[in-house]
Amino acid sequence: MDLTLKIWRQKDKNDKGSMETYPVTGISEHASFLEMLDVLNEQLITQGIEPVAFDHDCREGICGMCSLYINGEAHGPDRRVTTCQLHMRMFKDGETIHIEPFRSGSFPVLKDLVVDRSAFDRIQQSGGFISVNTSGNTQDANAVPIAKPMADKAMDAATCIGCGACVATCKNSSAMLFVAAKVSQFSYLPQGQVERKQRVLNMVDQMDKEGFGNCTNTGACEVECPKGISLEFIARMNKDYLTASITSEK
Ligand code: SF4
Ligand code: FES
Repeated sequence: MDLTLKIWRQKDKNDKGSMETYPVTGISEHASFLEMLDVLNEQLITQGIEPVAFDHDCREGICGMCSLYINGEAHGPDRRVTTCQLHMRMFKDGETIHIEPFRSGSFPVLKDLVVDRSAFDRIQQSGGFISVNTSGNTQDANAVPIAKPMADKAMDAATCIGCGACVATCKNSSAMLFVAAKVSQFSYLPQGQVERKQRVLNMVDQMDKEGFGNCTNTGACEVECPKGISLEFIARMNKDYLTASITSEK
């Protein structure tokens, strides 16, 4: 396949940035989108042009690092896949493909297609954990019975990989789907009950401090989420937040 790529280039955080056009040739339809960018970068290097910076790590849909906005969609035109799992067979030979970083005021662009998603880390640090007694009398996790439907729900929430596609897709730059998943993965489990109220209060508070917008129930996040995280978790988080606001001392 021969393609024309229109790619966002930005030297650093302070640079204004612009879309640049690059032809790329000889791409296999079986290649992944990131492999196609690897080929482009090899071609750019031989031409003496600085390669395009983009984020990636696992290339298996696990780490959540690959964060590209492709032809106006987070993670591109396929459903339930990350950019690293997107294949070039989803595109046509001769096509022009627009590639931009995830856009949000809370995800500043660092260089080209790389954005700073440390706001997600700070939200996690504010409450995305449980405290476990490690005094030597720690109960084996398997000794705590958990109903299968609850375990399944917790697992569904825990599949969130923190990629940020929900934020990039949302017209309000809302991080509610991400935060709801991270709150809910513990709220279904006995181990998550001790800090349940403080967790939701702290994580929503940090989300607001980071400048993310609010949820207006549009649902675009759920459609573009590579892990199919459900809006139901947002409803559950809102209920938890209301309960905690009324009943906790903070
Ligand atoms: S909720 Fe989905 S889109 Fe948002 S960070 Fe998690 S996996 Fe990514
Ligand atoms: S590179 Fe890890 S999810 Fe894409």
